Amino acid sequence: MQIQENISFRRYNTFGIDAKARYFSVFKDIDELEELIGQGTRIKIQGTRLVLGGGSNILFTKDYDGLVLKNEITGIDELHEDNEYVYVKAGAGENWHQFVLYCISRNWAGVENLSLIPGNVGASPMQNIGAYGVELQEVFYSLEAFSLQEKKVFSFSRNDCEFGYRNSIFKERYKDQFVITSVIFRLKKKPGFHTNYGAINEELEKMGVKELSIQAISQAVINIRSSKLPDPKEIGNAGSFFKNPSVSKDRFEELKTKFPAIVGYNNSDGTIKLAAGWLIEQCGWKGYRSGDAGCHAKQALVLVNYGNATGQQVYDLSEKILSSVQEKFGVRLEREVNII
Ligand code: FAD
Ligand code: EPU
Repeated sequence: MQIQENISFRRYNTFGIDAKARYFSVFKDIDELEELIGQGTRIKIQGTRLVLGGGSNILFTKDYDGLVLKNEITGIDELHEDNEYVYVKAGAGENWHQFVLYCISRNWAGVENLSLIPGNVGASPMQNIGAYGVELQEVFYSLEAFSLQEKKVFSFSRNDCEFGYRNSIFKERYKDQFVITSVIFRLKKKPGFHTNYGAINEELEKMGVKELSIQAISQAVINIRSSKLPDPKEIGNAGSFFKNPSVSKDRFEELKTKFPAIVGYNNSDGTIKLAAGWLIEQCGWKGYRSGDAGCHAKQALVLVNYGNATGQQVYDLSEKILSSVQEKFGVRLEREVNII
């Protein structure tokens, strides 16, 4: 394994930001990771370490003055099964969507609603990825992660991970302390379909689907996503830039009196989740562009890089959006994307 110096991140992040990594290396198993950390110590790499997967939820606002460890641990293994479930272990460096397709082809159910989410398996527990009515935690069984401090592998159960909406212990308390090396999923042998997210039923109808299947749901999700989310191969982006904020029911009623069209969904704890895309659109940002940084014309929650925006320019735009939403609605948005 080689540690490269001063290399451009551009092809390693879906925003297409041209920042540099002081040190950069790829590892394909835990031994290589350990060796790299050892080498890093020998050549006196100062600074911090950053684990990188597919780079689809990260914004580099500056060069990274430390060691970037790109996780390329692969492999998918069926561990065991019982009457209801099959337990499948996937290497952190496996591409998430390819893993979803692999499961669907074997009729293992549970991840079909999470089709076409960019990035790798290893990052999926980081923010408990979610889409179209399903979150990763519903199919998650456990993971293994290498502690950068203690230099050994630990196992985390679902409870240990403290999953929340776009959140986990690895995004909070254990930020930058562990390298997730593999994830074990508990997938259903008999599917329980999740079509409660309105757009899925509409799409299934449009597709002329008579009999529901995980294959059909996956295709419906792929069709919906492709119609409104920009493809990072064409326009740099990292999906939703902000989280959808939650407010109390009373606060929601107040807002509704002032803004009757406001979009909100009931959370299980009685609070209301607001559609941040709607709030941002109402502030006039949808389709906005300044230089190469912009707010996507079809989905206001997605910030984009049309080519040569710097991470700082995208960040500055996010700051302006945040302020205007705060001013108009009194609601504080929180960034979903990891800012470096
Ligand atoms: P990276 O961007 O490489 O890393 C993200 C964070 O995780 C960083 O902090 C990194 O240090 C850390 N990390 C990565 N790998 C590891 C590891 N092995 N161990 C420890 N830490 C690690 N997300 C959703 O939840 N739902 C969506 O519907 C969705 N749609 C998207 C659509 C588009 C077009 C894009 C570009 C992004 C979308 N995202 C969505 C965000 C993104 O796809 C997910 O967050 C994904 O899980 C990120 O994976 P990655 O491998 O690219 O992570
Ligand atoms: N909306 C607008 N204007 C916009 C965008 C959205 O008014 O420009 C309103 C519409 O009323 C729409 C509602 O917002 O009905 C919700 O929009 P959408 O269904 O597109 O979902 P979202 O809330 O914008 C969330 C996730 C996505 C996930 C989709 C589908 C977050 C932060 N984002 O987006 O996740 O794919 O739902 O489940 O929770 C990501 O995390 O990167 C991501 C893309």
